[in-house]
Amino acid sequence: MVVRCTSFGINGIDGYKVDVEASARPGMPAFDLVGLPDAAVKESKDRVRSALSNCGFKLPSAHFVFNLAPADIKKEGPIYDLPITVNLLTLAGHLHADLSQSAFIGELSLSGELRSVNGALPMVITARECGIKRIYVPRANAGEAAVVEGIEVYPVHHIVQLRDLLEGRIEMEPAKPVRANNNSYSELLPDFSQVKGQLEVKRAVEIAAAGGHNILLIGPPGSGKSMLAKRVPTILPDMTFEEMIDTTKIHSIAGQLHGDGLITQRPFRAPHHTVTPVGLGGGGTGSIKPGEVSLAHHGVLFLDELPEFSRSALEVLRQPIEDGTITISRSGQNCTYPCSIMVVAAMNPCPCGYFGDPTHTCTCAEAKIKRYLNRVSGPLLDRFDIQVEVPPVKFEELRATEQSESSREIKERVNAARELQRKRFEKSKTTCNAKINASEFERFCKIDSEAEKTLRRSFEKLGFTARAYNRVLKVARTIADLERSELIMSHHVLEAVQYRSLDRKYWAV
Ligand SMILES: Nc1ncnc2c1ncn2[C@@H]1O[C@H](COP(=O)(O)OP(=O)(O)OP(=O)(O)O)[C@@H](O)[C@H]1O
Ligand SMILES: [Mg+2]
Repeated sequence: MVVRCTSFGINGIDGYKVDVEASARPGMPAFDLVGLPDAAVKESKDRVRSALSNCGFKLPSAHFVFNLAPADIKKEGPIYDLPITVNLLTLAGHLHADLSQSAFIGELSLSGELRSVNGALPMVITARECGIKRIYVPRANAGEAAVVEGIEVYPVHHIVQLRDLLEGRIEMEPAKPVRANNNSYSELLPDFSQVKGQLEVKRAVEIAAAGGHNILLIGPPGSGKSMLAKRVPTILPDMTFEEMIDTTKIHSIAGQLHGDGLITQRPFRAPHHTVTPVGLGGGGTGSIKPGEVSLAHHGVLFLDELPEFSRSALEVLRQPIEDGTITISRSGQNCTYPCSIMVVAAMNPCPCGYFGDPTHTCTCAEAKIKRYLNRVSGPLLDRFDIQVEVPPVKFEELRATEQSESSREIKERVNAARELQRKRFEKSKTTCNAKINASEFERFCKIDSEAEKTLRRSFEKLGFTARAYNRVLKVARTIADLERSELIMSHHVLEAVQYRSLDRKYWAV
């Protein structure tokens, strides 16, 4: 006798359908699992048998064979505990139900309770695309799974409850969508109004947010670099529903949702500088996990104390920052995760922190400063469209009683600039000025003749690379957008060039 039910697996950021078949023939008790299972899948037979026995379900003495099709894709994780259990209950005559329109994902505990699995959201999305009507998921995954419309999601906490539900002995309402962290920014949360003075830096941060540009903040200790960086998400435009789904999918695969539903606010990831290349880019033993760059998808990756990161970790970032995706290859497996991010980095100009500070004397030897700064490679530095100095805050500024501009006010301007960009890129895949590609350059970055002259002068005098030239123009495009000017003018270019001059001040020592 052969029975089958449907389950799903994860490949990259998408789910794929897995048919779980089972057959039993009389003979010595045995339990075989085929279909390229990894260690976690293989162990499922012990979990399932113990759970069934602990819940009072007797199994006949037979040779059971389970097949996870398609057999040429490696199956990972404990997702298949639940479909295997369902098949076993059917084979043993403990369950009589039509399972043709249903799918199952979930890990079992030895007492028959269901534990959450990673990647529930992308699997449920695929289930809906495959025409599945009902999907049974662990209760802890219900929040994210219920976000998907057009499929009934049933949160299950125990296999006895599942049996009763499938046989119609109990009734249950499908789960309703839950939204994670969807309180709008309140007064308790970081806000730009808490940052006194620093008007030039705030202007640079606003431009960065308006165009999605990477920004590097350099300044002495205590000048407020980390404080400013943490407030960047508060002025970024609200996420679209597609962006929410994209980001939630990655967090779901990484097992970082912790029972939450849809992520509705842009992620802010601030990995410590001891992070490994794998932690930052993705990989790891077992299944390939998304790294910090992908967890920050559609949000901000904050690299505090940039030169303290290992060179190998920083170099991992170079390609994904440029492309918006990262491909991880490992022993015959390839996995591509998206990482459309804005990088915000902060650093001191030297090991003691006071190089170039008018109020303190720097105690570092020149060679030491050079070594310190050279930890940030030229190509990486080149990727920061905006590089800005954060000077120490003046006493009068700190004591000033007038209220600084709030995040809400800045966000309004950012939103207006983004709206122009949304219209501009309506027919293209580009999302913001920072991501304008080579083919769109001519069309979207039109400059007037005066601006052309300014640009030529800066290019020759400052020795820009081709990338720096492109990036200056993109920043100028954003500055023009903030002014609602379709044409890029000379003063837009001048301001943009000014944000590219720090490498000459510090890196040319
Ligand atoms: N402009 C400012 N307005 C109000 N408070 C500020 C400002 N700048 C700094 N502070 C205060 O100083 C503290 C330290 O700032 P922050 O940690 O951002 O400094 P930093 O530049 O990151 O220093 P480091 O280089 O040591 O990391 C902040 O928590 C805040 O209380
Ligand atoms: Mg800091």
